Amino acid sequence: MDHHVHTIEVTINGKKYRETVESRLLLSDFLREICGLTGTHVGCEHGVCGACTVQVNGSAVRSCLLFAVQTDGQEIKTVEGLAEPGSLTPLQQNFSECHGLQCGFCTAGILMSTDDFLRQHACPSTKEIKEMLSGHLCRCTGYDGIVKAIEKTVKEKNVAEDKEMKLCT
Ligand code: FES
Ligand code: FES
Repeated sequence: MDHHVHTIEVTINGKKYRETVESRLLLSDFLREICGLTGTHVGCEHGVCGACTVQVNGSAVRSCLLFAVQTDGQEIKTVEGLAEPGSLTPLQQNFSECHGLQCGFCTAGILMSTDDFLRQHACPSTKEIKEMLSGHLCRCTGYDGIVKAIEKTVKEKNVAEDKEMKLCT
């Protein structure tokens, strides 16, 4: 076998993939072109815009900064894996309700970062939310709708868990 080619096994959105890839193939191109998961978008291709963000073992990462071979044996989640097919997570629902997207180019990446962020921050401040979003470029929304959507999601979750007074004062 050509030494520039490797066979990798990854789990993406719960499904196993075994593929032979060139060592220089970016994870973003692997997901889109080999796996057909085109919900992950590619903007700058050098780590600036955040559009390509996915999760590897639960952590948000820029898929244009990783080679596919680096994820051999790992668990990957893309925007297609956030909710069950045909449904939306509360965060996705609130992006829709709060006008957190227009063209949608940045949206998948922002959802993947926010999903990871909210697992680590039960009650983030607006400042913390904005800091997290600073890794993502959105040319359409002015970010207000995005921040609102995230804050609404936090509030609803904490109300549902009856934590609002304890955590969000
Ligand atoms: S395409 Fe990866 S950060 Fe812009
Ligand atoms: S919704 Fe268009 S770039 Fe963010």
